[in-house]
Amino acid sequence: MVVIVNDRDVALFPFLTFLVIVCLNFPSSVHSRCSKNPVIFNFGDSNSDTGGFTVGLGLSFGPPNGRTFFHQSSGRLCDGRLIIDFLCESLNTGYLTPYLESLGPNFTNGANFAVSGSTTLPKYVPFTLDVQVSQFLRFRTRSPQLTLKGYKDLISEENFKNGLYIFDIGQNDLAGSFTYLPCAQVIEKIPSFITEIKYAIWNTHQHGGKNFWVHNTGPLGCLPQKLATAAQNASDFDEHGCIKSFNDAAKIFNEQLRVMCEELRSQMKDATIVYVDIFAIKYDLISNSAKYGFESPLTACCGYGGLPYNYNANITCGVNGYNVCKEGSQYISWDGVHYTEAANSVFASKILSNYYSTPPTKFDYFCNR
Ligand SMILES: *[C@@H]1O[C@H](CO)[C@@H](O)[C@H](O)[C@H]1NC(C)=O
Ligand SMILES: *[C@@H]1O[C@H](CO)[C@@H](O)[C@H](O)[C@H]1NC(C)=O
Repeated sequence: MVVIVNDRDVALFPFLTFLVIVCLNFPSSVHSRCSKNPVIFNFGDSNSDTGGFTVGLGLSFGPPNGRTFFHQSSGRLCDGRLIIDFLCESLNTGYLTPYLESLGPNFTNGANFAVSGSTTLPKYVPFTLDVQVSQFLRFRTRSPQLTLKGYKDLISEENFKNGLYIFDIGQNDLAGSFTYLPCAQVIEKIPSFITEIKYAIWNTHQHGGKNFWVHNTGPLGCLPQKLATAAQNASDFDEHGCIKSFNDAAKIFNEQLRVMCEELRSQMKDATIVYVDIFAIKYDLISNSAKYGFESPLTACCGYGGLPYNYNANITCGVNGYNVCKEGSQYISWDGVHYTEAANSVFASKILSNYYSTPPTKFDYFCNR
């Protein structure tokens, strides 16, 4: 895979030389070398849900969700933008429209199939990963049919092929399993979750996709919700106050996901599959929070109960009686499960580097391809 990156760099060399000259002459005129954005298809859960749950179930996430950036309910479980929003901004493309949006949708830049609460298993339940992929396949079949009928602004065959397919799912499978199984049995279930993600990538590849961007799962044991509600004993905490067994399960999930991506790379020769270490990115921010200007990294900005976690399952963010911090920018956790816009912004900036991706790939690698 490193070879591919090198190939591209070689191919870009004359262009880069030109760019350097342009930059020397007009330092502020060149922002992004992305003149043609890849169309993005995103699959996942609340970590990347830009409104799927809200439009699919007709339930909006009320205030204070959205208070920092959209200044209204935006269908996101966050005070502002999610990682996926920052990734879209980096390509100068609009935010992704939920696939289920029926009122004035704009799919020119892609579609978002992610729905909050989604899991990989059990299958055939709205909106598990296999259902999201089925929805995509319908979208893929219908788009050219509708274009033939004269509908405008639908995604072209070329853009389906050159599109970027992003996957970020698994957190709810792990979290859900921990609610009724001991750790050892949660770990036994992990291969079945990974198999579902493998099918999803395989299926979209069968239908022409060749660019894949796969996020691993974050440090489950650092979520204020888990810290406040899980049965624990002191020996299960790590040096930063997170639950070790939860994070260990997440790491086992991630290792299996990494190996699965490696296997697919050898089987799908025409494909680029990038595995991104979201766990490392999130854990770094939590364990070095002061360095990044955040306070109490394990306290929810919006919730109930005060220190240390400000999380109560009966009075969650937005439910009667909750409290909310003044400056979300000083908090990492928004509501005990989801991150603040400020944290998401840091995460996205790390994703944009090639430091956390395997093979080392920048997010804008898929531009102009
Ligand atoms: C749809 O989105 C694209 C890209 O994000 C944008 O350029 C275009 O103006 C939008 N179309 C409408 C009708 O809003
Ligand atoms: C939530 O409400 C239930 C039922 O009233 C109660 O048993 C439980 O202790 C409450 N949980 C918390 C964390 O306050």
